[in-house]
Amino acid sequence: MLKIDGLNVSYGSIKALSGVSLEVQQGAIVTLIGANGAGKSTTLRAVSGLVKASGGTVFYEGEDITNSPPHVLVQRGLCHVPEGRMVFSNLTVLENLYMGGYRRKRDAKFKSDLDYVFGIFPRLKERLQQSAGTLSGGEQQMLAIGRALMSSPRCLMLDEPSLGIAPLLVKTIFEKIAEINRDLGITVLLVEQNANLALAASSYGYVLETGTVILHAPSAELRANPQVREAYLGG
Ligand SMILES: Nc1ncnc2c1ncn2[C@@H]1O[C@H](COP(=O)(O)OP(=O)(O)OP(=O)(O)O)[C@@H](O)[C@H]1O
Ligand SMILES: [Mg+2]
Repeated sequence: MLKIDGLNVSYGSIKALSGVSLEVQQGAIVTLIGANGAGKSTTLRAVSGLVKASGGTVFYEGEDITNSPPHVLVQRGLCHVPEGRMVFSNLTVLENLYMGGYRRKRDAKFKSDLDYVFGIFPRLKERLQQSAGTLSGGEQQMLAIGRALMSSPRCLMLDEPSLGIAPLLVKTIFEKIAEINRDLGITVLLVEQNANLALAASSYGYVLETGTVILHAPSAELRANPQVREAYLGG
């Protein structure tokens, strides 16, 4: 579904990614873990055309999409939920969800997608007219995911959905991600610092260190790997 091959990204003189390669099979949940500043967000930003790749290739559904603009990719079903959620604070919950699907016709599928979002995140349905900026952090994360679903994606890239969320709700968010993957067959590339839960939710994982993939394996193997346990799973 998604293949990144030798991706290089620099911010001025700072080299953020050097030769990052990874693959996400259709229907899978794949996780990318790594410490602060490892380049996780940069990887997603480069895939979705928010920063320019200076080298390497990104393939989506077999086609070269390197440095394609974000709106084109969203239209093709590749949707990015950025770190820090970035909901439209001054718009209501319902308006945010509409924004996610603004390029679509308001047909029966639009309506059923909206109902699906309300089904997995009932909290949003109770708060339709509340302005998004006044939602709790966890609710804003639900809204960000719900808004992405309204674009009818085939591949969803989630940047640290657990960031700043209470432990109990983090578990729920991960369960919802698995549910979305199962129910809708949406492929997921998950970026996380919460390595334990992310590896538990995914089938395959990559470990990024200072802009380079240092390790990749089935998630169960990574969870058992002493080096990964020491560095990312608290020993
Ligand atoms: N706009 C920018 N300008 C300059 N440097 C940047 C910019 N964005 C990121 N960087 C640098 O690129 C490197 C990778 O950053 P990135 O945000 O991809 O890391 P990350 O793995 O997502 O970290 P975190 O877990 O803290 O979100 C860091 O050294 C960061 O300082
Ligand atoms: Mg990040």
